[in-house]
Parts: sequence; structure tokens; C-alpha cells
Amino acid sequence: MVGVVVNFEVPLFGGGVSEGVVRVGETVRRPLRAHSPAVHELLRYLESVGFDGAPRVLGVDGRGREVLSWVPGEAPRVPLPPYVGSEEVLRGVGRLLRRYHEAVAGYEAPDGAPWDGETSNLDGEPEVIGHCDVTPENVVFRGGVPVALIDFDLARPTTRLFDVVTALRHWGPIADPADRDAVLYQVDVGRRLRVFCDAYGLERELRRDVLPTAQVRFERSYRVMRARAESGGGWARMWPGSGQRIRRAQDWLERNWDELDACLW
Ligand SMILES: Nc1ncnc2c1ncn2[C@@H]1O[C@H](COP(=O)(O)OP(=O)(O)O)[C@@H](O)[C@H]1O
Ligand SMILES: [Mg+2]
Repeated sequence: MVGVVVNFEVPLFGGGVSEGVVRVGETVRRPLRAHSPAVHELLRYLESVGFDGAPRVLGVDGRGREVLSWVPGEAPRVPLPPYVGSEEVLRGVGRLLRRYHEAVAGYEAPDGAPWDGETSNLDGEPEVIGHCDVTPENVVFRGGVPVALIDFDLARPTTRLFDVVTALRHWGPIADPADRDAVLYQVDVGRRLRVFCDAYGLERELRRDVLPTAQVRFERSYRVMRARAESGGGWARMWPGSGQRIRRAQDWLERNWDELDACLW
């Protein structure tokens, strides 16, 4: 019998931002964007240092799409499955982010690399190329264990703290309960911030800056997302809901500030 391999294009949905993300066999095809060369260099560096928690770049296909390796496992989608809310998973994500930061620490990105994210110094002198979008949908799990980060579209030079805070926005989550996924609706966010920071190994002296950084980040996200929405596409579809969610999260953070801050120590 002659074996025939037919590679169907299976549409993938995650953060709902990128249109045209498909799986083809053991690869993922995504539209090439202005920042793709910067991300590809980053992913190549991660491969060169043997970091296994990110996809590999395999090239560009005949239709001008980037070709990445399919990372085996499961990336959660909303509604999030129950295991995403466990503390063991939270610790695993903290450790994974730490491993990523250690792997990327030696990377010197070319000057003027076309990162997508705004690289203002609001978050401090850059230390690493942060992932900057560690949502549940951008983490691949195997056997319930977080093993890889995907979707490096928002990667850019930043501080480790900023990347931690971005992860906490989603994994705390630092969000109004009304905007949380069901599995995270009733969680003890203060405790989860602590568990994540401990698993990451966030230095004590940086912990006092976690909530102020979250505040700065919310303001900037609001501005950046509004600007992106004005340019159309996936971001426009998510606005104004995403802007309103940020405002509610800011209010919730203000209301719970002291209690959350006390948990971080
Ligand atoms: N390399 C990969 N390995 C495994 N799954 C992937 C990979 N790339 C994307 N996916 C899946 O496709 C979804 C959408 O892809 P993603 O790159 O996150 O695009 P976006 O969030 O911009 O829509 C992800 O949440 C994940 O479920
Ligand atoms: Mg994504």
C-alpha cells in the first residue's frame, strides 16, 4: 500500500488576535509581520542555547507565511479547563518564565530590531527580551504541566519584572472578578501572586514594585491597545471591550491594593 500524507490546514484560535494561524502537520503557519525577523532571531537564539520551551523557526512557506514547529501538547482555550486554575500549574508557569529569562539573558538583539511592542523605558532599563504575553492561551501543557511558551509576537526588550507582572495580569489574575474566566473567578489572587513570585524566584527588593508596575502597565496597555484598535484588524474587533476590562482591572487593583501588596512579602 502506498502511504499518502495529506497535510490539511487546520485553523487555530487562541488569543483571537492573529488571523490565518493554521496547523499543517507538525508545523504552524502564521502571517509574516514587520516584527517577524526580530522574533525569528530570538527563537533561533533560544534554539542555539537548547531552550526547549519555545517553538522552532523552520522558515517561510511558498505563501509567504512563517513556519514554526508545532509544540506537542495542549494550549488552553476559553472557557479555560479546570487544571489551569491549580496552584501547581501556577508554580509551573512561574518556573517556566524564569527558565525562559535565564535562557534569553545572554541574547543581544541586533540594534533596531523591529519589535512589535512599544519599547518605552516606562518599565525601566531593558534587561531581557521579554515574552510580554504569557496568557493561558500562549502556554503549552503536557500532562497538565506547562512546558512551553508560544506566540512571541509581543516580545521586546524589557525588564524581568515587567514580564512577571504581565504574566500575573493573566495568572493572578489581576482582573475584576466579573472579567475572569470561570476557573479563576473565586481564587485568592493575593496568595496566587505570592505563589507565582516564589516559584519564579522574584527577588524581595523587586516585590514592592509589582503592583506599581501593574499600574503603569495598565495605563500603557490601554494606550497601546487603543492605538492598535484604530489601525483595524483583530485589535479593532476586541475594542472597546478590552479597554473597559483594563479600566475595571485598574479599579479592582486600587480597591484591593493593600491586601494584595501585603501578600507579596
Ligand atoms: N507552535 C505552536 N505549537 C502548538 N500550538 C500552537 C503553536 N502556535 C499556535 N498554537 C495554537 O494556536 C493558537 C493561536 O496561535 P497564536 O500564535 O497564539 O496566535 P494569536 O494568539 O495571535 O491568535 C494558540 O493559542 C495555540 O492553541
Ligand atoms: Mg496567542
